[in-house]
Amino acid sequence: MDLFEYQARDMFEAHGVPVLAGVVADTVDDVRAAAETVGSRSGGVVVVKAQVKTGGRGKAGGVKVARSLDEAAAAGQSILGMDIKGHTVHRVMVAEGAKIAEEYYFSVLLDRANRSYLAMCSKEGGMEIEQLAVERPDALARIPVDPNVGIDDGKAREIVDAAGFDEADKDAIAEVLKRLWDVYREEDATLVEVNPLVKTEGGEIIALDGKVSLDENAGFRHPGHAALEDTAAADPLEAAAKEKGLNYVKLDGDVGVIGNGAGLVMSTLDVVAYAGEQVAADQGLSTPPKPANFLDIGGGASAEVMADGLHIILGDTQVKSVFVNVFGGITSCDAVANGIVGALDALGDEATKPLVVRLDGNNVEEGRRILAERAHPLVTIEETMDGAARKAAELAASTKN
Ligand SMILES: Nc1ncnc2c1ncn2[C@@H]1O[C@H](COP(=O)(O)OP(=O)(O)OP(=O)(O)O)[C@@H](O)[C@H]1O
Ligand SMILES: [Mg+2]
Repeated sequence: MDLFEYQARDMFEAHGVPVLAGVVADTVDDVRAAAETVGSRSGGVVVVKAQVKTGGRGKAGGVKVARSLDEAAAAGQSILGMDIKGHTVHRVMVAEGAKIAEEYYFSVLLDRANRSYLAMCSKEGGMEIEQLAVERPDALARIPVDPNVGIDDGKAREIVDAAGFDEADKDAIAEVLKRLWDVYREEDATLVEVNPLVKTEGGEIIALDGKVSLDENAGFRHPGHAALEDTAAADPLEAAAKEKGLNYVKLDGDVGVIGNGAGLVMSTLDVVAYAGEQVAADQGLSTPPKPANFLDIGGGASAEVMADGLHIILGDTQVKSVFVNVFGGITSCDAVANGIVGALDALGDEATKPLVVRLDGNNVEEGRRILAERAHPLVTIEETMDGAARKAAELAASTKN
């Protein structure tokens, strides 16, 4: 989960990382009020900053300095509602204006390839850091960080030495890096990036921007993290699925997909996409049927989980047909078949779209028998995965064209 800058700022503050005052605002009036509060600490100079989860806000005009309340309101007016790389700005942060002497770069992140952590640091931070990394990679120090040790005094020293900071600044910067490490470790982050980390004219080291990604798998250790989620931006179906504990990802197509096991569901998406292309070619359709979602109902596949899954998928108005692809392993096919029958009963009138079911594996005969016996008008049983994908694609095509 990625955080907004203002959330990262608050997290930094909680771990003793020096930051400037910042107040969020959703309306121009609130921007003006925030500028009055925040600006009183910085001679009336504030910076109005777009809060969107994408980089390059400054270059897109989403970061503006304001020297009066009117200027702040005007900045708020122009930034709120702005589109930055497909992200609409609904909120800004009004931050204290800093007198910047130098801009640095620092990040610590999960280095999957090396099964370790990696710290990156540069004396030349700011908005051109991506260009610097490409054109003069030597100017960006890359220091592996042992997860069992972290950024202690010695590691912090190694980083500031490698980045080539002035001797006089090294201790103060090293101190901030250790605090940023505390954020990374104690919050179970996979990325903590500060660009720019600045030295002010007064010689203070301050984190002026912050990007933090949290490891959601560690969420159980952090009851506070759930509140950081941007529920307004989440897809409503994905949010509903999450509430039910389902692994669901909404896609753009029209063939709903349910399967047990992530690998099987992934390959089902491929098979449906392929079948969709073939159906489109055969029928001369300009837009082929495509998978509408990823949904892994896991090993259990009980009637309740199946009903929850179908409920989510049928709630997607784009869905025209549903492909239930189950391989019976520990949970045998008859249990899954009973789950499907139970789910259809539970859904009642809500089940309105055709279901193509392919069962295989443990106790498949009994599973198919249960479905056949029930003979639900919406259910078609197919023996093979390819055949079922083809059938589901055809059903989707026939209802949409
Ligand atoms: N509080 C502040 N006071 C003075 N200048 C600031 C302040 N915040 C940002 N700036 C200036 O604006 C520039 C861009 O700000 P910031 O780094 O927050 O956004 P960005 O880098 O463009 O966004 P992103 O990091 O999302 O790509 C900074 O490099 C800095 O020069
Ligand atoms: Mg930045």
